Amino acid sequence: MKSITFNQQKTSAIGIGTWHIGEGDANKTESEIKALQYGLDNGINLIDTAEMYGEGLSETLIGNAIKDYDRSKFQLISKFYPYHATEKLIEKSLKASLKRLQTDYLDLYLLHWRGQTPLAETVNGLEKMVKAGLIKNWGVSNFDLNDLKELDSISHGSNCRINEDLYNISSRSIEYSILPWQKEHQMSFVGYSPFGSDGGQYLKIKPVIKEMAQQKHITVHQLLLAWVLRNHDVLSIPKTSSVEHMKSNLFAVDVEFSQSELDLLDESYPKPNENSQLEII
Ligand SMILES: NC(=O)c1ccc[n+]([C@@H]2O[C@H](COP(=O)([O-])OP(=O)(O)OC[C@H]3O[C@@H](n4cnc5c(N)ncnc54)[C@H](OP(=O)(O)O)[C@@H]3O)[C@@H](O)[C@H]2O)c1
Repeated sequence: MKSITFNQQKTSAIGIGTWHIGEGDANKTESEIKALQYGLDNGINLIDTAEMYGEGLSETLIGNAIKDYDRSKFQLISKFYPYHATEKLIEKSLKASLKRLQTDYLDLYLLHWRGQTPLAETVNGLEKMVKAGLIKNWGVSNFDLNDLKELDSISHGSNCRINEDLYNISSRSIEYSILPWQKEHQMSFVGYSPFGSDGGQYLKIKPVIKEMAQQKHITVHQLLLAWVLRNHDVLSIPKTSSVEHMKSNLFAVDVEFSQSELDLLDESYPKPNENSQLEII
């Protein structure tokens, strides 16, 4: 499995997204657990979840799937709601997440998106959780450049390890300033929804993608994922509920593009040439 440097450690090129898992019947749950375990057994060493996902159902499923695995071998990210971003509620949310996940620490704990709580209070709460040994590090999600700069300006704000934003071939706004800023500040980047989320509603598939996928003897989804991974500063976290799709996503990690293929894709999905509003799902 190809790896990148993420969160200051060697990490598989893709992680496992888990939004909407754990919400179905027994058959669906079994398939989701098998897919997740297949990913871990075949080199993926990062899982992304949140207290929001199924109001804890995703974390509960992950807890059941990972309970017999060596916890030191993979990173676990979870996120708390912005309205749990006070010192007291961060601790309460975190302890509930740890219980559902059947683990005693998270590698990264993220503010899911910005809310009303002052960032300074949230950072204090997160730093306390680091000191208590309940999280190794913390980060944010759905932050734009101004949010990142504001965070960086407050006490201990520069301890933020990662920011997780939407990134796929038709949502490229982070390339203009967020990604370069994060690289400069040694803050790792997670790109979520490489396929435009469940049902693909956040991504327009233009003919060039289908034609190129056919020429390369890969699927449209493999092309979409491989395109995100062409940039080694991005960790992508596709979500799947089947072993078949997990295998397909693992295969995509090794797909390469020629410069002329990338140029052709740029014609239909242009690189951003100015700052634009961050898209959020
Ligand atoms: N921080 C945030 O605010 C935020 C927001 C959104 C998402 N996320 C994270 O990012 C993860 C990924 O994003 P996402 O869940 O929105 O969507 P996504 O990964 O872009 O797309 C998931 C969809 O793609 C399908 N799929 C996966 N692999 C496939 C393959 N090889 N061939 C065909 N279809 C395939 C899945 O179907 P099957 O399940 O049937 O395989 C599902 O319908 C989330 O699960 C979550 O962990 C974070």
